[in-house]
Amino acid sequence: MTETPRAIRGMSDILPKSTWLWQHVESILQQQAKVFAYQEIRTPIAEFAALFERSVGASTDIIEKEMYVFEDRKGERIALRPEGTASVVRAAIRSGCLRSGVHRFWYQGPMFRYERPQKGRQRQFHQFGIEVYGLTGYLVEAELIQFSDGLWTALGIQDQIGLQINHLGDTEARKRYKAALVDYLKQHQAHLDDDSARRLTTNPLRILDSKVPETIAILNNAPKLSDYLSADDQAEFSQLKNTLDTLEIAYTVNERLVRGLDYYTGFVFEWVSSALGAQSAVCAGGRYDGLVAELGGPETPAIGFAIGLERLVEIVRQNDTAPIVNPSVLILPIAQSDEVGPTALVLAARLRAALPAQTISVALKPGRVGAIFKRAANSGAQFAVVLGDDELSGESYTLKDLFQGEQVTYLSFNQLIGAISGA
Ligand code: HAM
Repeated sequence: MTETPRAIRGMSDILPKSTWLWQHVESILQQQAKVFAYQEIRTPIAEFAALFERSVGASTDIIEKEMYVFEDRKGERIALRPEGTASVVRAAIRSGCLRSGVHRFWYQGPMFRYERPQKGRQRQFHQFGIEVYGLTGYLVEAELIQFSDGLWTALGIQDQIGLQINHLGDTEARKRYKAALVDYLKQHQAHLDDDSARRLTTNPLRILDSKVPETIAILNNAPKLSDYLSADDQAEFSQLKNTLDTLEIAYTVNERLVRGLDYYTGFVFEWVSSALGAQSAVCAGGRYDGLVAELGGPETPAIGFAIGLERLVEIVRQNDTAPIVNPSVLILPIAQSDEVGPTALVLAARLRAALPAQTISVALKPGRVGAIFKRAANSGAQFAVVLGDDELSGESYTLKDLFQGEQVTYLSFNQLIGAISGA
């Protein structure tokens, strides 16, 4: 017996029963990007592995254990992108555009991380992201939050999502805080989980993110990052919070929000949803003012976020706020004549031209009349235009409302159009 080909674990098909929902969500994201005057940027899904090692950070989970890396035929180390920010920075530096001005970009596409698949976590997943270059200060931070908040409202899921924010301080503050945190945690080293104990030397800030109860208990009395922020950063963060209040966007300050990528500086945030289970972050990002220069570009303030589309689509699906896209009008060629098929195709063309907002489909599968009507009733379409012997022999159009069960015959095409469009 031949084996049926399988998809790779953690890499799913998105089937027609879901793609309409994806398209609905994607169209709202792209519309938001357009009305906020962000421009689309498309980068390759593969890059030199070194790009991510230099930006995401060598001691992060993504680089230590999750990246898809392989050698190409020339022995170059290539990676499937685990995220979009590094590629956008590379492309922006290379294009030369960062030498002046403000740039607002959006992007969308598949990302790859070799994680253990579970609900809300795939090895191939999709992100919609935005990145802004050339703006310091809290106003652009507020703009990003406003952009994302508007999305949840447009999708009807604003009650399912909450905002968490934090400020990581400048390099100096983080350095002093890291030392204090390590000092404190060393006193409790014996009670830390293995991962956290290892991170004491590799990436101590990430310990704050631990989900292990014993470690969380120890962290409750740990020094606080907010006590180490410079006066300037504290003032900036307050102004951001005041602006969010002005915009009437609710938030919680989460002092343990540190993010899993090394490039962040200053303000960071996550939108989380209780509708998702353990993988609750839907949208995450923050400032990364050092990365452009670290990758060889001009000193450039930068900020961005990425939304996990699988997770966003899941919340929208649970909320049932998305319009279902089905054919709205079905043409049913039921006359016993060879002419009826071509006539149905011609009628479909006329209907599509007259009713561009409707989706019009011809029931091409042959069968007994009863079976054809039954399939039509199950199709989700509201209207069926019936092409029987009478309709073929003279100008008349029979319209059946499949929801109400009523059937009316019209004597002109314009009357038919009027009835379908509700005029
Ligand atoms: P991230 O937090 O690694 O940030 O990912 C952003 C979002 O992508 C997450 O909140 C989650 O919704 C989704 N996501 C991540 N991994 C998976 C997975 N394995 N399966 C399903 N969804 C996932 C970044 O990627 C940054 N580049 C965000 C950013 C842009 N920061 C500045 N600009």
